[in-house]
Amino acid sequence: MALWGGRFEENVAEATQEFGASLPVDRALYRQDIAGSIAHAQMLAHQGIISEEDARAIERGLTEIERDIDQGNFAFDINDEDIHMAIEAELTRRIGEAGARLHTGRSRNDQVATDTRLAAKALARELMQANLGLRRALVAAAEDAGDTVLPGMTHLQHAQPVLFAHHLLAYAWMLARDYTRLAAAFDAADASPLGAAALAGTSYPLDRGETARALGFARVIENSMDAVSDRDFLLDLEYACSVMAVHLSRLSEEIVLWSSQEFGFIALSDAFSTGSSIMPQKKNPDFAELIRGKTGRVVGDLVQLLVTVKGLPLAYNKDLQEDKEGALDAAHTLLSCLGVMRGMVSTWTVRPDRMRAVMHRGHLAATDVADYLAKRGMPFREAHAVVGRLVLEAEKRGVDIADLPLEAFRAASPLFEEDIVGALDLDAVVAARTTRGGTAPVRVAEQLRCVTEGIEADEAALGALTPVVEMGAGA
Ligand code: ARG
Repeated sequence: MALWGGRFEENVAEATQEFGASLPVDRALYRQDIAGSIAHAQMLAHQGIISEEDARAIERGLTEIERDIDQGNFAFDINDEDIHMAIEAELTRRIGEAGARLHTGRSRNDQVATDTRLAAKALARELMQANLGLRRALVAAAEDAGDTVLPGMTHLQHAQPVLFAHHLLAYAWMLARDYTRLAAAFDAADASPLGAAALAGTSYPLDRGETARALGFARVIENSMDAVSDRDFLLDLEYACSVMAVHLSRLSEEIVLWSSQEFGFIALSDAFSTGSSIMPQKKNPDFAELIRGKTGRVVGDLVQLLVTVKGLPLAYNKDLQEDKEGALDAAHTLLSCLGVMRGMVSTWTVRPDRMRAVMHRGHLAATDVADYLAKRGMPFREAHAVVGRLVLEAEKRGVDIADLPLEAFRAASPLFEEDIVGALDLDAVVAARTTRGGTAPVRVAEQLRCVTEGIEADEAALGALTPVVEMGAGA
């Protein structure tokens, strides 16, 4: 018979037992469940609701169960439905009546919300750490890149030359925003639902502040119905994961392009490439592709939860049991993607010669030629048209605009003088882009310092987070 056996005459059908069980998923939350139960039992004793002796027996029993699960010595039984019942049933088998007093003034509804929030905090923090690791790797790669230039693109067409470091730092900024989203998701989870009981609170004199403090929560959720039905914190976490996954996917796409024969801008290390079972020459960017592919999964997890909660009346509904699988999947998938991306970025070989070699295609200096005329008095729109004709001329001759002879420039406009030749040097073109946030080496050096300061500030913030209950590996 199930825990609620009293009101029932028959057991649930075998098929529905398995259908209704969440144990295969929520067993991953055993540490959070045990921490929550110990905090609840101690508070019950402090409030005189159960005896100190019972609370000590509960704590001892739960600590032993945790150790057994940590070591893989716990036989989970699907008939227990979920991790809460599995642990409580085992506790009562081990310590008897005291175990049966644990659930006083508590429901699985506030229990599962507590466990899930603790898990969300632990996962958010792990993701924040991994995010910082990748940002550090990007900064190191940007430092290594020095003054290496490559064609900056729009529409995947050569646009204007930029520093490779500038390009890489754009991703560091994306990841800095991702960190902010993770921190917000951590904060959303950082409130205790424990004591809300089934939905309405209880008639026992619980001290919700005590359990919140004991579990490391920053605050207590003020509405018991909100406490048991809110899953916004998981949506926040999965949204943060989704946006970060999308950023990794964009970088993956660049890695796939850059490592192709057409670009050849980077070569991935052997450790982050695969071969082909039939084509002996192949070296494929499989792992970049796989990160791009796994992004669909992470975004899917977010969409699944949004759709799951959209029609739910207050308060708890069994639909909410479908919340954890996707959240765990999104976080774990992204953690592995972050690790692989970090490895790829740290071990690739950059080919400045290949980047340089394609700089003389696509008329990368064209904007600067127009600027040259505009700075000598011609309205920019007119200059744009003049340079457009010069590009056409260069195309007809089969050369880059930078390779046109001085006479061709002079024929296009008398404003051109001999110094136009120097103005087309691509390093000079890059160095001239000195607006704040621009690609000139002096600006990129400033940006590198700024990105590094951001990493240091986030590292400090990570150290100041409220405590988390780490995910256990034993389940
Ligand atoms: N296994 C359930 C879940 O994950 C626990 C809460 C069940 N509560 C209930 N009233 N059925 O959501």
